[in-house]
Amino acid sequence: MEKIIINGGKPLLGDVEISGMKNAAVAVILSTILVEDICVLENLPDISDVALSLEILSRMGAQIRRRSPTTVEINTKTVVGGTAPYDLVRKMRASYYIIGAELGRFRRASAGFPGGCDFGVRPIDLHIKGFEALGAAVTVDNGRIEADASEGGLHGDSIYFDINSVGATINIIIAAVRAKGTTIIENAAREPHVVDLANFLNACGAKISGAGTDVIKIRGVDRLYGCTYAIIPDMIEAATFMIAAAATGGHLRINNVIPKHLESISAKMEEMGVKIEELDDAVVVDSTGAALNRATVRTQPYPGFPTDAQPQMAVLLCLARGVSTLYENVWDNRFKYVEELQRMGAKIKVDGNTAIFEGVPSLCGAPVRAVDLRAGAAMIVAGLCAVGHTEIEEIHHIERGYDDIVGKLRSVGADIQKVSVPDPYVNAPKAVG
Ligand code: EPZ
Repeated sequence: MEKIIINGGKPLLGDVEISGMKNAAVAVILSTILVEDICVLENLPDISDVALSLEILSRMGAQIRRRSPTTVEINTKTVVGGTAPYDLVRKMRASYYIIGAELGRFRRASAGFPGGCDFGVRPIDLHIKGFEALGAAVTVDNGRIEADASEGGLHGDSIYFDINSVGATINIIIAAVRAKGTTIIENAAREPHVVDLANFLNACGAKISGAGTDVIKIRGVDRLYGCTYAIIPDMIEAATFMIAAAATGGHLRINNVIPKHLESISAKMEEMGVKIEELDDAVVVDSTGAALNRATVRTQPYPGFPTDAQPQMAVLLCLARGVSTLYENVWDNRFKYVEELQRMGAKIKVDGNTAIFEGVPSLCGAPVRAVDLRAGAAMIVAGLCAVGHTEIEEIHHIERGYDDIVGKLRSVGADIQKVSVPDPYVNAPKAVG
């Protein structure tokens, strides 16, 4: 068992580099099935969801060569359809992109039901509706999804999503790239990772236009060609560092970001009294030392405030003067971490998808759990700004999506370490990083 241990109260000071975006990387990696050639992917984050995606491809027959910690060469010519290993697929939400990619390449697909963070019900009806519109017969049975377009083939169509879904938008783009004719997705998700996936596929020869708007047009092509492509920076990792800098009263320059992707976060933090300077590919966060103003935060699809930065932002709301409100508008159940923050002295009441925060002057260190990926990041932010000692368990959730978060935080002055506790009743903690 591993834990993260933090002695809080140290301001974050200095420069930190942001890694490639998890949610773009996993989509791009799995979409290489469709390319049937050699792709070189750069700026990949060193996280367990990327390792898992590469392992899935490898077990499906792809040849993977790591050129550096952030660059990987993937040859998918030898991939065999229908061989995605169930034990790995069920560990990660994004594994549902295998269905779109196999359908596009083999005209039939089969994979286990995807896993991922537990925020209540996570349906895939929109993905299925999209595959069916393209001509596939889809069945979900015994934990497996099967899609078959082997008789009539895949053909373009107009698809309207009545809910804005990142995953369904990406999956239908992937499936439609090698379909016959033109596919139009209306009310498409506009997240930067949708744009990154479309840019990657276009670099391989796809004809996708409109990504980043709510109408995406995909003109089908017969085949794709390998390319070299660099993944965009992770806006949620950047947001986590921005919030951590403000929560600890620090001053941090956050490098390798696209400031435009961070506008909703910068705007909300400025409203709370944090000074943010946007540079070409960096943001500088200066907490100014003044008390934080109360705020109302509403999560929305991009370009609104991202749900994936909601738990981290909650820590700032805990510390803001007066009563703040947070509305979670994307997921049914993304407040499981509240109980953990309450252990640290936070005053939060949850009513359905609304959380009300009564500001406290400081949090206090406590033993807590990372209940999911971003909740785990919030526990780190809370531990960094809390008075005293915090121990975070179940950190495998955090490692799914944050590249060396402990090392990066240590480099800007945090007192944080990861410890291995093989048997808590026999052995004392041993430092590992
Ligand atoms: C992606 O999940 C991200 N994951 C999530 O990030 C993120 O929270 C989410 O988008 C929203 O931004 C990846 O990209 C791998 P959705 P996804 O489909 O695609 C409903 C993180 O922390 N819906 O946009 O699964 C759904 O219930 C992770 O990095 C349907 O009703 O999310 C939700 O309310 C966690 N039917 C809303 O749409 C469907 O078929 C948005 O979900 C699909 C979704």
